[in-house]
Amino acid sequence: MENRSLVTIANHSKERILYLLEMAKEFEKKPNRRLLAEKVVATLFFEPSTRTRLSFETAANRLGARVIGFTDPKVTSSSKGETLKDTIMMVSNYADIIVMRHYLEGAARYASEIAPVPIVNAGDGANQHPSQTMLDLYSIYKTQGTLDNLNIYLVGDLKYGRTVHSLLMAMRHFNPTFHFIAPTELRMPEEYKLYCQEHNIKYIEHTDFTEDTIADADILYMTRVQRERFTDLMEYERVKDLYILNGKMLGKTRPNLRILHPLPRVNEITYDVDESPKAYYFQQAQNGLYAREAILCDVLGITLDEVKADTNK
Ligand code: CP
Repeated sequence: MENRSLVTIANHSKERILYLLEMAKEFEKKPNRRLLAEKVVATLFFEPSTRTRLSFETAANRLGARVIGFTDPKVTSSSKGETLKDTIMMVSNYADIIVMRHYLEGAARYASEIAPVPIVNAGDGANQHPSQTMLDLYSIYKTQGTLDNLNIYLVGDLKYGRTVHSLLMAMRHFNPTFHFIAPTELRMPEEYKLYCQEHNIKYIEHTDFTEDTIADADILYMTRVQRERFTDLMEYERVKDLYILNGKMLGKTRPNLRILHPLPRVNEITYDVDESPKAYYFQQAQNGLYAREAILCDVLGITLDEVKADTNK
């Protein structure tokens, strides 16, 4: 049987990405549909989450599915020593699809290789976050009217930030110019720079974060410094406040600039930025609902034609 799991965005063609964005657009027109009635969606969160879990669960509910799962592995039998393999095999007995966030890089890949039901990677360590990427692409498309030829500035923790890793891979189809703005300790890992070179993705690295640096940005993608991934908390303390976006820094920016952030925000965007029409992070999180409705349907075999047919009911 075809494995329909969503583990990484790296395998998605341009056509597939555009297809899913079109499906998300249909769900934005009409979020409530019974397309997944009688399906059970399991959400297994071995790491904390607000948006990803709640938007997947909202998506499942709006599609008529039922939801099971956990948000704290300490209250599951993994705290008694049950392996990830056994947990996945058990939950596969109960659910039609598993949405999983795990602290280990590669956990979603592993789960997809052993599970009889599809797996959706809701974030695996510092590796990938493909469903976030679909909502990021949808947000970029909605605000810029295109995904092509954009100047995309990624700021902050580019080492541990899984959202920027996934976004970079997905954008390979759309001729972006990336600007990586990070302190030396948190710069984009070599493997992703190599990926850019192999796929002819232009990138420029910066350590300065000033209003001049960001003047040509179409998308300014801010990220949180990921405290939970540091082994040396002294290093975290040293880098955590190096890059903070404030309202004054937007003075020279393009009119079409939109500021994205996967959230949660700690203090890398000051609250005065929220008042700017260029701030888009809360709408971005809302777009997560439509993107995740599309992902759940697609992984469970519902086509865009079926979604469109339902729109007309
Ligand atoms: N963007 C994101 O993954 O947010 P959560 O950690 O709240 O799910």
